[in-house]
Amino acid sequence: MRERNISCGPGAVRPLQEHFMDRQRKLMDCILPHLEHGTPFQDFINEGSCNFYGAPVAIIVTIDQAFSKSRLVDVGIAVGYMVLAAHNMGLGTCPIGLISAFDEEIREMLNISQEKDVVMGVAVGYPDPDSPINLASSDRAPLQEVVRFY
Ligand SMILES: Cc1cc2nc3c(=O)[nH]c(=O)nc-3n(C[C@H](O)[C@H](O)[C@H](O)COP(=O)(O)O)c2cc1C
Repeated sequence: MRERNISCGPGAVRPLQEHFMDRQRKLMDCILPHLEHGTPFQDFINEGSCNFYGAPVAIIVTIDQAFSKSRLVDVGIAVGYMVLAAHNMGLGTCPIGLISAFDEEIREMLNISQEKDVVMGVAVGYPDPDSPINLASSDRAPLQEVVRFY
């Protein structure tokens, strides 16, 4: 289960469609040249995600099981604003969905109630301008690729 979560992305229930895979490949292409020689991309993501890329602060986002799954939208909105607010303060962030595959371990380590689900984490810290990986920058998909106008 964990392996599936890690290789398909947390929560993916079937292989992703080609346009999602294409986006993933483009992200890989922009990161790979900045990785230490020979580091496999997937190892970088998996290991980096599990140690919050060495960030000094890791936020664990949970939701009480009393809420319906549709309330995860609210969690996403809250995390989105949190990330923007952090950015405004000069901080860098990386949302980490992958850690939801390790919810039991996290719950035990942090003594989180069984009534809460671990949704995701967010790594927070000041970006290191001297780190080669921070030279990697993804492009933006054109609007017409991701929005359908009626
Ligand atoms: C919901 C969500 C979950 C994410 N989970 C992970 C993760 O587990 N590991 C990781 O390295 N990055 C994760 N990311 C970060 C993305 O890989 C990416 O770095 C970030 O969204 C910025 O990418 P962009 O500048 O190409 O848009 C996640 C992002 C989002 C929005």
